[in-house]
Amino acid sequence: MSTSLPVTSDEIRETFLRFFEEHGSRRLASASLVPAQHDPSVMLTTAGMHPLKPYFLGADTPPSKRLTSCQKCFRTPDIDNVGVTARHLTCFEMLGNFSIGDYFKREAIAFAWELTVKGFGFDPEKVFVTVFGGDEALGLGVDQESIDFWLEVGVPRERIIELGREDNFWQAGPNGPCGPCTELYLDRGPEYGPATKPGEDESDRFMEFWNLVLMQYEQTTHDDGTSTLKPLPTNNIDTGMGLNRMAMLLQGKETIFETDQFVPLIALGEELSGKTYESGDEAVDRAMRILADHTRGMTFLISDGVVPSNEDRGYVLRRLMRRAVVQGRRIGIEGEFLGRYLDAVVDVMGAAYPELVERREEIRTWVTAEEQGFGRTLTAGLKLLEGLLEAGTVSGADAFLLHDTHGFPVELTVELAEEREIAWTGQDEFDRLMADQRDRSKAGSRRGDHGGASAGSIASLVAPTPTEFTGYAALEQHTTVAGILERDGKTYLKLAESPFYPEGGGQVSDGGTIVLEDGSEAATVVGLVRAGDDQAILVQPADGVGDGRLSADVAFRSGQAVVARVDRKARHATECNHTATHLLHAALRERLGDHVHQAGSAVRPDKLRFDFSHPGKLTPEDVRWVEDRVNERVLAADPVRAITTTLDEARAMGAQALFGEKYGDVVRMVEVGDGEFSRELCGGTHVRNTAEIGVFKITTETSSSANVRRVEAITGPVAVDFLRERDAVLDEISEAAKVPAGQVVERIAKLRDDAKGGAAKAAPVVDESALAAEAIEVGGDAVGGGAPVPVVVARVENVPPKELPAIADRVKGKLGAPGVVVLASPSEDKVALIVAVGPEVVERGVKAGDIVKAAAAVVGGGGGGKPTMAQAGGKDPAKTDDALRAAHDAIVAALGG
Ligand code: SER
Repeated sequence: MSTSLPVTSDEIRETFLRFFEEHGSRRLASASLVPAQHDPSVMLTTAGMHPLKPYFLGADTPPSKRLTSCQKCFRTPDIDNVGVTARHLTCFEMLGNFSIGDYFKREAIAFAWELTVKGFGFDPEKVFVTVFGGDEALGLGVDQESIDFWLEVGVPRERIIELGREDNFWQAGPNGPCGPCTELYLDRGPEYGPATKPGEDESDRFMEFWNLVLMQYEQTTHDDGTSTLKPLPTNNIDTGMGLNRMAMLLQGKETIFETDQFVPLIALGEELSGKTYESGDEAVDRAMRILADHTRGMTFLISDGVVPSNEDRGYVLRRLMRRAVVQGRRIGIEGEFLGRYLDAVVDVMGAAYPELVERREEIRTWVTAEEQGFGRTLTAGLKLLEGLLEAGTVSGADAFLLHDTHGFPVELTVELAEEREIAWTGQDEFDRLMADQRDRSKAGSRRGDHGGASAGSIASLVAPTPTEFTGYAALEQHTTVAGILERDGKTYLKLAESPFYPEGGGQVSDGGTIVLEDGSEAATVVGLVRAGDDQAILVQPADGVGDGRLSADVAFRSGQAVVARVDRKARHATECNHTATHLLHAALRERLGDHVHQAGSAVRPDKLRFDFSHPGKLTPEDVRWVEDRVNERVLAADPVRAITTTLDEARAMGAQALFGEKYGDVVRMVEVGDGEFSRELCGGTHVRNTAEIGVFKITTETSSSANVRRVEAITGPVAVDFLRERDAVLDEISEAAKVPAGQVVERIAKLRDDAKGGAAKAAPVVDESALAAEAIEVGGDAVGGGAPVPVVVARVENVPPKELPAIADRVKGKLGAPGVVVLASPSEDKVALIVAVGPEVVERGVKAGDIVKAAAAVVGGGGGGKPTMAQAGGKDPAKTDDALRAAHDAIVAALGG
């Protein structure tokens, strides 16, 4: 044991674990927050004992009878308490020592006392203990033994308090291992409360810091609420000490949020919001505490593979994150900020939990996606809610709308309402709307119409005995008709044995035929109705004509001998796609990470579709890598085997199972090669060897819903056809572009550039004859001095300045008499002017230079040239018309008008 007393959280953790190691315990690493064993009682690990349950129940053998651990825990019911009290957290570390049928009360008490007094340096005078005071309903008396053992280590009788079942009987849910407990409390002094012993009031004066559970029973709770206790195979010890609470005591802090693991997180809240913690605004303090706790929870949950969703653990995570975002907004944190907290949590906790460091970027991907997704609707949602709160009522329908359209977890809506003291009475309505929505979406995805009868009832209506599925091994089955049913214009058949695979696990139903003994095809299989393992076959006459009913001469009879024949080609193509789906799943996990979980699939003969959890688009490199990896397994010609095993064993072997799917105890596991690459629980049919797949090609990668990607792919002959078609298209392009296929891209790029440049270079469209025709007559006899002069004063659009002289000259040539042409070409920020004057007109006093100057002055420019041709530029294209008018006036004036 270390000589100096522990203070920091890391020191406390180490002191505890080392003490028990020195007393013969094996140190266990923290298990995942996601329970490895299927346990219907909890969604997330809530105590150090949880991963050890099978040992306590005698179902599994522990690596040592003495164990110690620091376990990551998550307590969902505490979400609402966080920030309100001094010590509630959702995500915390629990230190524990465990005995599986080894030491019991005496040693557990002696260890606890020694570590408390010597290891942690608590003043023995200030430590109180509580023991189980008995309970009639449980049939248990006072735990006198524990009292005696506490006296033995030196705790005086007046500091040993007896408490009832409420306080001192520990159970993890209504069923499971449990037992009386004895707890240690620290008296923090009269300044924390008036009580004189633990259990007397609700104050924080006596703070419980260690719970020793004397785990001796397995409890079963009955429907009427009573329960029975059955002794466990051995007497066990399970203790729990909240690490963060110990830090609070040893660091002499008022709340958990001032301890070393939280200081950096609170400081980050101050930095981001520009507000000060504990400056008198309780709402600000609360928000900063919630942010600190929830972002820790978020980081740990994602690092253990939980991803945001609307179900189970994913929903807990989503609630945490959205609650954090809303709290952040309320204290004025702008923009996205959860990533900053993620970094702060990893910095504080990464040394003790290296998985956080390893998965930091993966966690960030989820955090960013969720924050951005919620951020998009948050403002609108908050505004809507704000309006409702101001009006003083929030109904179940409002909460549903907020949930459905704006992603507000209902708990968040309720919390924000309650903060304003607006009573929430809408839960029933909300639940009903949610249930309706679920029904609607179920109805929307329900396949096939069985005339209102459920699949189960159809199958048993046709014949009560279940069909035996033989399609894993056989594609052709000699069997007998077990029953026939005409219903709503459809004919259902039931066979004693059937090789037809009925749709399930993403794989579509087989097609095929039913052949009579004489070899004639009697019926085509057009659909299968699955009812668990049972099935009914929807048939049509083999010739496909008529009203869908079988004609009298092929009518089946019960007991009739038939041959059921699966459409081999379609089945084999489907199998190729099914095995390829497993390979794809494994390759995606390898490339993108363990957060990739199947979210749905459709395995058909022509293609496969696979939906999976992943926050962002796959890059072209990802797609290529995954394709290569799958094709590598195809080339490896690995055998594919289906094995029947127990669920536990399959899980222990790392088999992928569909989350939320119900599996029995006996499961079918499909593995490829030695199983290292791919092992999945699956009831579908597969190729015998991956080489049968031939080739695998991804055709599309899109998004299916938030955080779910969708890949479509093809295999075998379909993939070959696809590649061939692409090849043909390329050949055509190459022919049209008149270059070899390898140069097509380059060629197209050039054609595109040429087309662009060509358009720019194309001659401006100026109708010179039309301009000439617009000439007006200026001067002439009326004013004396000769013939009238044809004058064109016009604007031309989009003509580059350098082209103007040639155009003006040509227009002048089309005038039919010596004349003057003035053109202005305005562009976005300039205007170009040109004046061309016939030499005869120059003689009469019209000089191009003078005219252009008069015009240029109007548009803020200048220029000049010869008397017959002068050019100018101006900066104010808006005044183009005024400039032309000035030119016109100058010409008239020069001609003596
Ligand atoms: N299982 C007990 C608790 O969670 C002791 O570890 O408090």
